[in-house]
Amino acid sequence: MTDLAPSLPQPLKTPILGHLPLAFDLLKLLKECHKDFGDAFAWQMGPRYVAVFSSPEANRQILLEDAARLSATDSFGPQSWILGQGLARLDGQSHKRMKKLLLPAFHREVINGHFHTIKEITTTNLRSWQRQIQLDATKACKGLALEIIIKSLFDLSLEAFPRLKTDLRKVFDALMVESGKPQTFLRFLAMLKVPGIPNLRQRLDHFFLERISEPSSPNSMLFLLKQATDSDGMQLSKQELRDQLLTLIVAGHDTTATALAWLLYELAHHPENQSKLREELKTANISEPTSLRGLPFLNAVIKETLRLHPPISLGIRKALEPLKISGFEIPKGANVLYCPYLTHRNPKLWGNPAKFLPERFLGPQPSRFSYVPFGAGEHSCIGMNLALFELQVIVVSLLTSCSWTLVEQPTEKLSPTLEPVNLHLKFSPL
Ligand code: HEM
Repeated sequence: MTDLAPSLPQPLKTPILGHLPLAFDLLKLLKECHKDFGDAFAWQMGPRYVAVFSSPEANRQILLEDAARLSATDSFGPQSWILGQGLARLDGQSHKRMKKLLLPAFHREVINGHFHTIKEITTTNLRSWQRQIQLDATKACKGLALEIIIKSLFDLSLEAFPRLKTDLRKVFDALMVESGKPQTFLRFLAMLKVPGIPNLRQRLDHFFLERISEPSSPNSMLFLLKQATDSDGMQLSKQELRDQLLTLIVAGHDTTATALAWLLYELAHHPENQSKLREELKTANISEPTSLRGLPFLNAVIKETLRLHPPISLGIRKALEPLKISGFEIPKGANVLYCPYLTHRNPKLWGNPAKFLPERFLGPQPSRFSYVPFGAGEHSCIGMNLALFELQVIVVSLLTSCSWTLVEQPTEKLSPTLEPVNLHLKFSPL
């Protein structure tokens, strides 16, 4: 690193806490900094120096070229007490080994095998959605996505484990402590005083170890994970399985749920797209999982939703050594963030960036690092094909049996996924 490398611009900060008080509204802070400073800026979050980038060139550097100098493990803090050594927290060889072991559970044929499960769970949920005058769609989508991931992983119904839902919600709260939001931190500390909550880890361990020890259904992802062997012929240990299962639930449930909620919002806000999709479905064989993947307008609608509303709007790393990103000096130990939210709304990359225009994905596709809803490089999302398939199957199931309208315009919040708040929808049978 040369002494001539410029430092990143920063907004005005308070002494000691720096920009921490502004992190109460992280999304607002991101947008304002982007307006004032462009694609690269920094924050001082208490003792932590945080560099935020959003140009495609910086994405390429962070996710690909300099990936080995940026740790995913160290970027997280105390949350390891709950998540353990899940895939997202591993680096280097141990990350490579684990990703290889998990991949068979995400093969296309395995994903196709979830087709009927996703359809059935959607149909059951829709029955209760239609009974409500106005449905809190974000909450409803979270419930639906959780049922689907539990059924896919274990071939078990969530109903059999009533406590699991609340416990997983608490895990999300714990994760928010790390997202640097003081109000959540205080809430979490307060929660620790409530009897029973300190046993969260114990209860989750118990749930997972029981599932791991009992014979697994051949239709479950766990069955495949138990069979996987690495290049030395070693299988995943019980502890490794527990950590990966929890990571898959945490990484796969809120993300897919918020993507679905935004998708329902966009289709309610632009009802002409609901009609266009129904038109497309008229000539498709919707009882065939593979044909759902080949529907151009449906895929364009999903891609455009993930562009405007990337559930993971910030990806986080920690610099293992001093380096330069986009020509700016990054000290060792700094957090380095890439920001799909800002990349996807950059007017230099996208015409009419704030507008929902699925048609933009019908022609030539954007360059690899201008569109990163699933990240890129070694840590790219292992669940991408499962998530896309889930969205395709759910939306087709809904479009063929009901229509939905917007009751209340939502606001957006980073929490830690980008979610619509107060999204109220009304579902009616066709
Ligand atoms: C629409 C839904 C989803 C979105 C937008 C999404 C997005 C992402 C992104 C952006 C990353 C990279 C994060 C980084 O660079 O730090 C990631 C990683 C990951 N995702 Fe997803 N994800 C989704 C669904 C899923 C599902 C369904 C699963 C599993 C069931 C899953 C499991 C994971 C895991 C384990 C990682 C870590 C991968 C690694 O470190 O190698 N995700 N996801």
